[in-house]
Amino acid sequence: MKAVQVTGYGDVDKLEVVTQAIPEPKEGEVLIKVKACAINNTEIWMREGAYGTGSKSGWKPEGVQFPRTPGSDITGIVVKTGDSVDQSMMGKNVVLFPFTSSGENGFEHISEDMSFIGSEYDGGYAQYVVWPAHLCYDMPLSDYIESAVFTVSGLTAWHMVEQIQVQPGETIMVTGANGGVGSLNIQIASKVFGAEVIAIVGDLDLEEKMKELGAAHVLSYKSKNLADEIIRVNEGPIDSVLDVVGDALFSTSLQVLKKGGKFCTSGSAGGQKTELDFRTLYLKHITLYGSVLGTTEEFERMLHAISEGKIKPVIDRTFPLEKAGEAQVYFKKSGKLGKVVLLPEE
Ligand SMILES: NC(=O)c1ccc[n+]([C@@H]2O[C@H](COP(=O)([O-])OP(=O)(O)OC[C@H]3O[C@@H](n4cnc5c(N)ncnc54)[C@H](OP(=O)(O)O)[C@@H]3O)[C@@H](O)[C@H]2O)c1
Repeated sequence: MKAVQVTGYGDVDKLEVVTQAIPEPKEGEVLIKVKACAINNTEIWMREGAYGTGSKSGWKPEGVQFPRTPGSDITGIVVKTGDSVDQSMMGKNVVLFPFTSSGENGFEHISEDMSFIGSEYDGGYAQYVVWPAHLCYDMPLSDYIESAVFTVSGLTAWHMVEQIQVQPGETIMVTGANGGVGSLNIQIASKVFGAEVIAIVGDLDLEEKMKELGAAHVLSYKSKNLADEIIRVNEGPIDSVLDVVGDALFSTSLQVLKKGGKFCTSGSAGGQKTELDFRTLYLKHITLYGSVLGTTEEFERMLHAISEGKIKPVIDRTFPLEKAGEAQVYFKKSGKLGKVVLLPEE
């Protein structure tokens, strides 16, 4: 089969198109013919070694075992089953839950042994992938590409919204609102949980699209008076922030949060380190939440909301699998709207 592997930490030239044997499903696993694999920043940081806070590393401090096939947001069809897998799995169109974990229900995402597809296991930048049968779910939509774009961004967004217990009518600021996670944070917070969303983008030409996703107000991070604008459109300080940007909007976020407000971070696309005046936190009684992915039950709730049409796929563009390097460079570009997807058969 054709696959794209990361051969070591570094730039996109560390991505190599290879031909290799189709993997065999072991006991409890299925073999999936990959139909679509959406890109996430996680595999770019895995290649760059950017998860390491000291030396370079992948998700786990002990680092990535190269060569590694990246890619976590996978849809496809089950074409072979390993021992002890129910034969009814054959021919199913599935979407993969992206990690294994021995954590109990509700704590899978914070278990020490959590291991991620595309980082600790070979992933979906390939024509075939093997995965535990119990982590393969029915696709929420009939289309492979549309069903592939929720896995990591959607699960992360869903978990963030549940973590801060968004209530109907609350005002939530969503940063990185045109990106993979942000475009789902808008939809989940507004259309599933009934919040009033202020979407933060760079380019205000995206305003109409953001409103279609459920944003009540759309503002630009390029504005010199962003904090004032947020307070003006909301007629006062806001309840919570769902953030994926990090440093670039941290001080604005703390400024516009109400007393007792909540700040939830799952990413740092606009800067990984920041300055914090502790007085802002304690004088305003602000709660900080750190967030990575989510639980299988949240994944199931998200798939249900997708199949009901409450949240919709937002797809920027597709690339053929062999152009994975070009696709990763494109992913990093400012101003895209939603997800970038690799297609092994294009
Ligand atoms: N914790 C988790 O489980 C988890 C899961 C998925 C992603 N993440 C992280 O979340 C972050 C976003 O991921 P994504 O997939 O949504 O990425 P993405 O699709 O590339 O979106 C990034 C967003 O951040 C905005 N942004 C970048 N730099 C900015 C700046 N200096 N000021 C304001 N906005 C800025 C971008 O706006 P422009 O388009 O205008 O540049 C864009 O809206 C990444 O750091 C990723 O690693 C974490």
